[in-house]
Amino acid sequence: MVSITRILAMAAVLSLAACSKQPSPPVTDGVTDALLASAPEGEWLNYGNDLGEQHYSNLELIDDSNVGELGLAWFADFETARGQEAVPLMHNGVLFLTTAWSMVKAYDARTGALKWSYDPEVPRETLGRACCDAVNRGVALYGDKVYVGTLDGRLVALEQETGNLVFEKFIVPNQRDYTITGAPRIANGLVLLGSGGAEYRARGYLGAYDSQTGEEVWKFHTVPGNPADGFENDAMEAAAKTWAGEWWKFGGGGTVWDAITYDPATGLIYFGTGNAEPWVPSVVGREGDSLYTSSIVAVDAETGEYAWHFQETPEDRWDYDSASPIMTVDLTIDGEKRHVILHAPKNGYFYVLDAKTGKFISGTSYAEQNWTTGIDPVTGRAEINPEARYDVTGKTFSVNPGVMGAHSFQPMSFSPKTGLVYIPINLAAVPLRTEEDWKPTDVGYQNAQDPLWWSTPTAGPMGSDEPAAAMAALIAWDPLAKKEVWRVERSKLGNGGTLATAGNLVLHGTTDGRFEAFDAGKGKPLWSYNTHSSIIAAPMTYAIGGEQYVAVLTGWGGGWGGAAIGGTATRNTSRVLVFKLGAKAELPAPPSLAERVLDPPPFTGTDTQVTRGATIYGRYCYACHGAAAVAGSLNPDLRYSATLSDSNAIKSIIIEGALKHNGMVSFEKALADEDSEAIRHYLIKRPNDDKAAGK
Ligand code: HEC
Repeated sequence: MVSITRILAMAAVLSLAACSKQPSPPVTDGVTDALLASAPEGEWLNYGNDLGEQHYSNLELIDDSNVGELGLAWFADFETARGQEAVPLMHNGVLFLTTAWSMVKAYDARTGALKWSYDPEVPRETLGRACCDAVNRGVALYGDKVYVGTLDGRLVALEQETGNLVFEKFIVPNQRDYTITGAPRIANGLVLLGSGGAEYRARGYLGAYDSQTGEEVWKFHTVPGNPADGFENDAMEAAAKTWAGEWWKFGGGGTVWDAITYDPATGLIYFGTGNAEPWVPSVVGREGDSLYTSSIVAVDAETGEYAWHFQETPEDRWDYDSASPIMTVDLTIDGEKRHVILHAPKNGYFYVLDAKTGKFISGTSYAEQNWTTGIDPVTGRAEINPEARYDVTGKTFSVNPGVMGAHSFQPMSFSPKTGLVYIPINLAAVPLRTEEDWKPTDVGYQNAQDPLWWSTPTAGPMGSDEPAAAMAALIAWDPLAKKEVWRVERSKLGNGGTLATAGNLVLHGTTDGRFEAFDAGKGKPLWSYNTHSSIIAAPMTYAIGGEQYVAVLTGWGGGWGGAAIGGTATRNTSRVLVFKLGAKAELPAPPSLAERVLDPPPFTGTDTQVTRGATIYGRYCYACHGAAAVAGSLNPDLRYSATLSDSNAIKSIIIEGALKHNGMVSFEKALADEDSEAIRHYLIKRPNDDKAAGK
């Protein structure tokens, strides 16, 4: 018999469940919030190790005196040769990581034996709406589950022990403009994720999801929607005053594709927002600051309500995402202990902000920059160089930092022992120029940049396979003295993130395939290892059974993956490498790269066809196949393609999508048969010109 009170109680529970968005309570077993805030010795449980994302480890078994004995303990190859950006996590002796195409792998962290592997089977056509390769930056652990965001926009939860699927949910607004590449973060039982898509028509947001069901608990948009639909909150209404034109038709951008930091000390979540969309404001009548793009925004961790924002780049038209990882540290500034945010976004300024209020403390350029004439010393607001408004002047502006940013997603690290921040930086300007008569389409980037720059052989560092002198560097930055303390120059752009350890070490992998250790205080090189493949990811470290290990992923790709900067000479092998002292495992010999000979068919096209082909190439193809048709090791270099001699073969690929299952999407929606033919002639002319020039 069921009592009346019992029925009433059940009804009350049911109605609560039906009409409230009360999330599941925080877990009490496995990886709890307390564990995430303070990991057991030797474990690495969050993307940046501690919740403040310092990418610092207090392990010191490997140190500046013995790092020379570091050797390969084990390695494991992935089944994808695309770019690898993940930072692995280590819990209970298991190493969890993601690979390109959002696959998840769990290995015995000591031996490298594969425990399980999960493939979400992301449709390969998704590559066509991913600005920056099929990369993924890692998993989150919570309770007994592993969480991953997939490129096609799902939040997936797996059992830590078996890799079995617990739930999966599409969490992006549509399957045309949004992708997920970032690692989820956890805040008191909520799983946090945003999306990419600000090169398409995405409206940026940060979402918080129930850890047990994947249901959305709250969502904070980063840019206002159509005012006619009403604003979701006061923050959107305020932001709408900083836009003009019909911005919502293009989404607005401001996507939260990487940086999300939960801070238990303030109860806030800080996240970085991406560029405004489309890049060129004037083509859509956009004017003003365009809040909250290229900003750090803070919201209440429980409710998602707006707390504060700090815009690093007003009026963005330079692709200056503020998506670089956001770090919190405690510093003594002018005799006062402050809990602060440290941030080094793409725009070239290093910011120190008060974490609770967002108040500007300091901002100093950490790399060459010419888009401002300075920043306001009190408010931190950028004073924009009028010449940098290239759409207003109508002239080309070679902007520094270039669109790859002085520093992007690659995690920087902080050592409390040295007080220094270790940042991998890029030093290359990129000219920006508005495309005349730009029209939006439904395929590819919507950036309104002059495409001819990207299809012409003089296209600067990205189009060149000649290593220039210092195009990048690893720098040690003193956030208190506001200056660089040491620098190691790098010859190629896009090097990996950094790890700092209590053993007075900074570990850093490079585009040209070196994995290296430096003295954290002085920058003296201590150890170097040839991985035979590029590194763009950041290393991490863990300890088991009295031994310390260092893990890093190899595999060129990501935002500049199409370009030749990965080195046409560096073979792309994607794998995880794990090192420890005295280990002697060896990598297989790298596959020999047979010297390729340019052997194009004779050029028979017209100048008009070449110009048209170059224009289309610069708009739709360069991002994957490289500027001026010189590709890196990620996607085919079309100057060598056998399809160049066959109009129908190349058309079947470009227009009909014959290779779409391998990520070469169909351009049927944007291009006609004559366009395919024009591209073919452009692609035949390029290698003929190169040959004539003796290349
Ligand atoms: C989103 C990335 C991406 C974009 C953008 C892209 N491609 Fe591709 N393309 C690929 C990938 C990946 C492959 C390799 C497919 C495979 O392995 O079968 C490829 C292969 C090709 C091939 C076959 C090459 C060969 O000989 O094997 C041709 C031709 C080609 N692409 C032309 C183009 C043209 C022209 C454009 C612009 C209109 C373009 N692609 C834009 C990713 C892309």
